Amino acid sequence: MEAVRIGLAGFGTVGSGLARVLEENGDWIERRIGRRIAIKTVLVRDLTKRRSFLPGPGVALTDDPSALADDPEIPIVVELMGGVGAAKELIERSLRAGKHVVTANKHLLAEHGPELFALAEEKGVGLLYEAGVAGGIPIVQTLKDSLSGNRIEKLVGILNGTANYILSEMTTNGLEFETALTQAQALGYAEADPTFDIEGVDTAHKLVVLIRLAYGRDYPLKALPVRGITSVTQQDIEVAREFGYRIKLLAQVRDVDGRLEAGVFPALVKHTFLLARVGGNYNAVRLEGNAVGPIMLHGQGAGALPTGSAVLADLMTLCREGFRPDNTGFGPAPVTPADILPPELAVSRYYFRFTVADRPGVMAAIAQTMADHNISIAQAVQKGDESAADVPIVFLTHAAQAKAADAVAAEIDAMSFTRKPTVLFRIL
Ligand code: NAP
Ligand code: HSE
Repeated sequence: MEAVRIGLAGFGTVGSGLARVLEENGDWIERRIGRRIAIKTVLVRDLTKRRSFLPGPGVALTDDPSALADDPEIPIVVELMGGVGAAKELIERSLRAGKHVVTANKHLLAEHGPELFALAEEKGVGLLYEAGVAGGIPIVQTLKDSLSGNRIEKLVGILNGTANYILSEMTTNGLEFETALTQAQALGYAEADPTFDIEGVDTAHKLVVLIRLAYGRDYPLKALPVRGITSVTQQDIEVAREFGYRIKLLAQVRDVDGRLEAGVFPALVKHTFLLARVGGNYNAVRLEGNAVGPIMLHGQGAGALPTGSAVLADLMTLCREGFRPDNTGFGPAPVTPADILPPELAVSRYYFRFTVADRPGVMAAIAQTMADHNISIAQAVQKGDESAADVPIVFLTHAAQAKAADAVAAEIDAMSFTRKPTVLFRIL
C-alpha cells in the first residue's frame, strides 16, 4: 500500500526526533498499520540554518506554510513549531482544508483549545495531541480511552521535564539553578522561552489540557493559580531533606463536590512517595479514579525521541483503518466552562521560609501571626550561626487555607525584622 505522506511543520528537537523514529521504526510501523508514514514536506523558519540532522532525500524543505496546508497530497499536518501565532494559523488552515492535525503544542491548546476542537469537529477531522502533555507518557490516550469510564477524583503530576531536571540536579548533584537550566536547554528539554518552564507556565498549559480530558471542562488559564520554581534555593532543598521531603513542581486538580480545585506550585513531597523519586527529565502523573483507584504513569517528559514517540502514536492512530475523531474524549459535546473552587479556599499543609533579623521576639511574632490566621505549626527550625545577623526560619504547618497562608506571608513581609520576602511552598 502507498505510504501516507505528511507535512511536518517544525524541524527542531521534536520534529527531527519524529523524523528519526519514522526512519528507524519504518518496518515496524508498516507491520502494525499496513503502510509506511513518509514525510513529504518540512516547514521551517530559516532555510539557511545549518542542521546536524536533515530530512531524508526527496523531502522538500520550505518556509511557506501553504506548501503543507494547500497540498492535496498531504492528508495530515504535524505541527511542531510551538507558539500561538504561526502555529495557530497553520492548524486552522489545515483543519479548514479537511486535513488531520497532530500537535505537541500545549500552549496553543491551553489558550485556544475549545475553538480549535470545535473547528475540527465541524470538519470531521482529528486534532490529536498526545505529545502535548508529559512527553512520552501516554496520558492523553489513557484519559480519553482507558480510564474514560472513571470519575477522576484527583490528579497530581510532575509535568515539566526542565523544571524537574533543575530540581533533581540541585538536589542530587548540588548544581546551581542557572547551571542546571543551561544543561536542560542544551538537552532540548526547555521551551523556546524557558521562563515558561521555570515559572510554571508550561505546567499550567498542560494542566488545562488534562483538566479538559479528565472532566470535559474548560478551566481558563488566567484563572489558574501558578507558582514556579525560581524561589527554590539550595537552602530550601537542604531543609526539606532534613525534614524528609524533596521539592517538586506539581500540577494538581481535585474534584471537590463537583467544583474543581486546581493549581501549579512547588511542593514538598515526602521522600518515600513515588512522586518524590521522579528524577531528571522524567514526568509522572498520579491520578485517582472512582473505579480504578490510584494509578501512576512515569516516563520521559521531554526530549526528541520520547516526544517523537508520542507524536508517532497519534500519526499511527490517524492512519489506522476506520479512524473516527474524538478529539476531546467527550465525543461531539462542546467543552463547557469549569465550576471553579476559588483558589484562596484551597486547603494544604505549608512550608514557610522567613528571612529575618536574629533578635528576641521574632520567632514569637511569627508564631503569633500564624495563630492570628488560625494556622497551626507542625515543625519549626531556625538555621544560621551565632555570627549571622539575618537568619532563615522555617515553619511546617498543619492544613490551612491558601488565603490564610498568603495573609501570613504578606503580614510578615511588612514587619520591620523581615529581610527578604517570605518563601511559601505547599506540602503534598
Ligand atoms: P524547537 O527545537 O525550537 O524547534 C522549532 C521548529 O519550528 C524549528 O525547526 C523552527 O524552524 C520551526 N519554526 C518555529 N517557528 C516557525 C515559523 N513561524 N514558521 C516556520 N517554522 C517555524 O522546538 P521543539 O523543542 O522541537 O518544540 C516544538 C513543539 O513541541 C513546541 O510546541 C513545544 O512546546 C513542544 N514540545 C517540546 C518538547 C521538547 O522536549 N522539546 C516536548 C513536548 C512538546 P528553524 O529550525 O528554521 O528555526
Ligand atoms: N519544555 C517542556 C518540558 C517540554 O521541559 O517539559 C515538554 O513539554
